[in-house]
Amino acid sequence: PRERGWRTRYLYFFQDFWCQSTEIQSITKFQNHFQAKDTDIIIATIPKSGTTWLKALAFAVANRCRFPPSKKNHPLLTSNSHALVPFFDYTVYGGRFDHLPDFSNMVEPRLFGTHIPYHALAKSIQDSKCKILYICRNTLDTVLSSWIFLNKVKPEDLPTLTLEEAFEMYCDGKIGYGPSWNHMLGYWNESKARPEKILFLKYEDLKKDINFHVKKLGEFLGCPFTIEEENKGLIESIIKLCSFENMKELEVNKSGTFGSNFENKYLFRKAEIGDWVNYFSPSMVEKLSKILQEKLNGSGLSFELLY
Ligand code: A3P
Repeated sequence: PRERGWRTRYLYFFQDFWCQSTEIQSITKFQNHFQAKDTDIIIATIPKSGTTWLKALAFAVANRCRFPPSKKNHPLLTSNSHALVPFFDYTVYGGRFDHLPDFSNMVEPRLFGTHIPYHALAKSIQDSKCKILYICRNTLDTVLSSWIFLNKVKPEDLPTLTLEEAFEMYCDGKIGYGPSWNHMLGYWNESKARPEKILFLKYEDLKKDINFHVKKLGEFLGCPFTIEEENKGLIESIIKLCSFENMKELEVNKSGTFGSNFENKYLFRKAEIGDWVNYFSPSMVEKLSKILQEKLNGSGLSFELLY
């Protein structure tokens, strides 16, 4: 029997990244079946880096004609962004092995999410003109956010994950879809080679200037905001609709669930930059900073730990 514990639980090294056995099945189905359309929008992230936020923003921007952001019946007011922008790896290709999704009723642009690294995406995504939005976050805040989230949603038979254990798993690269530096570099390098295909974003930059980034999303997705839209306050309405403060207080996010067992409320914690200072010792910060410096060396990708 396999040992039950955080270090050994479920994780397999598959196609050069770590994932759970159930994900291997859905990722394989996705790779063999998914046919991208040029109009598709894919939101890609390493877990706990701002996925929920970017999904909401992309949905609101891309669908602003169909669903004006200030309307009382906007879908983001009654559905969690993971329901509107489903994950390939859990929802779309989840379930039984012989079950394949039917996309015939999906309205364009189709929006999907994924944690799968760039090199393991379905080939049609890489080959088509569809757009990819990637967001990452400084690793110390991501480790912290993951650690708290994992303990909230863990199966009952697993012991509480200590911060030290979570930290060491990150440093070893052994986390879902990790190593995280490979994940970030895969999308980073491709965004440099094909800037029209991948928009590489950082959580901290969005927090610093969300107005600029909402505009940028419009431009990148081929639907720039017109002067008239700007004058009507559309950008501000989108920012407000997708804000942490608004989303956290929605009934669907206070009491709803997503996937099979995750409660939406666990997706919203503090949304702060640098909360890690309250948790990590100086030696931990030094260790992870050194690892990242070494792994990202020469790539041009770096993170400020505090803003
Ligand atoms: P914290 O745990 O630091 O609070 P993901 O969506 O990838 O799971 O990332 C989760 C992190 O994003 C959590 O960070 C969460 O609080 C934050 N978050 C969720 N919704 C957000 C929003 N609308 N705006 C900004 N941050 C958000």
